[in-house]
Amino acid sequence: MIVTTKTLFQHAYGKYALGAYNINNLEQIMGLFQGCIDSRAPFIIQLSKGARSYTDKRMLEAMIRTAEEIFPEAVFAVHLDHGDEKTCYECIESGFYSSVMIDASHHDFDENGAITRRVVDAAHAKGISVEAELGMLGGVEEDIQVDEQHACLTDPDDAKVFVERSGCDSLACAIGTSHGAYKFAGSQGIHFERVQAIQDRLPGFPLVMHGSSSVPQDEVARINAAGGTMGGAKGVDTAHYLPAAKLGVCKVNIDTDGRLVWTRVHREYFQEKPKEFDLRGPGKIFMAEYAKFIASRNVLLGSAGQLDAVRESALAG
Ligand code: G3H
Ligand code: 13P
Ligand code: ZN
Repeated sequence: MIVTTKTLFQHAYGKYALGAYNINNLEQIMGLFQGCIDSRAPFIIQLSKGARSYTDKRMLEAMIRTAEEIFPEAVFAVHLDHGDEKTCYECIESGFYSSVMIDASHHDFDENGAITRRVVDAAHAKGISVEAELGMLGGVEEDIQVDEQHACLTDPDDAKVFVERSGCDSLACAIGTSHGAYKFAGSQGIHFERVQAIQDRLPGFPLVMHGSSSVPQDEVARINAAGGTMGGAKGVDTAHYLPAAKLGVCKVNIDTDGRLVWTRVHREYFQEKPKEFDLRGPGKIFMAEYAKFIASRNVLLGSAGQLDAVRESALAG
């Protein structure tokens, strides 16, 4: 059942976070749905611009709608990740998306607010909610690269003004994380004091954490043992997911960790079976491993076990 992102946030706020998982293909979709059913968790399936153009956006929509039939118990929202203004309007008009993210954070404060306001007006007219971004994460977002020196944490006072002016429904904040597999050096990590300060200014307002992959070190070691060269990759401490959720982080974006599962499975498979060329062998293993990974993340996020309660509150309207 596809539900509004607002329904999911209302249920989760201050208690747990929804896993927001990026998907690009059939195997990820099957693993994601299976993992969420196994862990009895609601979830957000999110599509980036890159995912929408990897094959064809109609293919992704058809696969997700079919997964909904294959897994009738699933409760989830469909979200556009890191949209530009044009893509947001396209998704709002499509009738398929529960929410869109307008990422205008590379513009100055006023321009970001103005672009976000236009998207919010169009989205709210169709009952769709909008995630905006304020502050700059490090790493690569779609085709925009931000180096660590230019990444800046979200200012709590600005966040309050921005939300009031733009009318957005949730806010992606820069709180120390970055996209990709190389997030931190040394003892760097999430700036909890910043999350707390933002929540103080915006009590009850859903926050979003991008760049939340944990980059499991055993996964990196297995990738490297099977021919990869991912030295120094480091991610978010998974023990920090729930404390962040308690401070109003309702949505935790995870993409890179899923890519690592895919890379490990395929590297190991072909290293162990150099004569093999049937794509279904590693594909089957990946779907099962990705389902296990998703279930483990839902447990850490606190969304595991919430499925029936969320369904009831969605049906109650
Ligand atoms: O934040 C970006 C997501 O990880 C999506 O990545 O644009 O390569 O699909 P992508
Ligand atoms: P990771 O690269 O940490 O998985 O972050 C994904 C993300 O923020 C998608 O919007
Ligand atoms: Zn992101």
